[in-house]
Amino acid sequence: MEVVVQKDYEQVSKAAAQIVADVLNARPNAVLGMATGSTPLGLYQELVRRHNAGELDFSRVTTFNLDEYVGLPVHHPQSYDYFMHENFFKHVNIPAQNINIPSGTTSNYRAFCAWYEKRIGECGGIDLQILGVGSDGHIAFNEPTSSMSSRTRLKTLARQTIDDNARFFEKREDVPIYAITMGVGTILDARRIILLASGKGKAWAVAQTVEGPVTSMVTASALQMHQDAKVIVDHDAAAELKMRDYYEFIYEMKPSAPAV
Ligand code: F6R
Repeated sequence: MEVVVQKDYEQVSKAAAQIVADVLNARPNAVLGMATGSTPLGLYQELVRRHNAGELDFSRVTTFNLDEYVGLPVHHPQSYDYFMHENFFKHVNIPAQNINIPSGTTSNYRAFCAWYEKRIGECGGIDLQILGVGSDGHIAFNEPTSSMSSRTRLKTLARQTIDDNARFFEKREDVPIYAITMGVGTILDARRIILLASGKGKAWAVAQTVEGPVTSMVTASALQMHQDAKVIVDHDAAAELKMRDYYEFIYEMKPSAPAV
């Protein structure tokens, strides 16, 4: 796992946008795994800026979102479908038929989840998966004790996640209790993964992800098993990393490292 420590949220977002741009320049028909929440907003803004500047074309891109709340229709302002369209899709040129978001209102969750997995495979798998991390260390909605080989499925949210996400709803009781989410195994199948984190509230989760044991109690720690995972954090989110000096040294020495 590579750890990149940036000064602040803006630099985290820019570093992540550069990685997405590199992927799209190398492979204009790349398949991107998308995350919602506060963390990737700056990344999406930077991608939209580059698109508007004529630097990035999304016309051949396919996307798969990580998760969706159960019970929220697509036009609900707190649905992840709505979030993605408002904050990203309506500002770039991804063809509508290339956008895939789990359905929070399907009449058959089991069949839908199986179809979602199959669809990812049919599109050639995910080239780059973008992740945030929950304060409890979850990725997507893979809450503590989720199987490290789990696939897309229905999941009950942890109380901590319901509390954390209550800020987006009028009342805590409005936060859905269930979500449909890609599994840890689904995420680990992506060819490349970037996990972004910003702020003190993520410091514990980041330290556990990078330096803690690989454990289903912190599903982000599964990234330690991935061959191409990069964790991009700001100073606050890096606050509890014991080996921070080493990560900064690696980053500093990177330009003079032998080509591989
Ligand atoms: C959202 C998702 C979640 C969030 C996590 C952090 O699609 O998969 O795992 O990435 O809950 O959320 P924020 O960024 O709002 O702190």
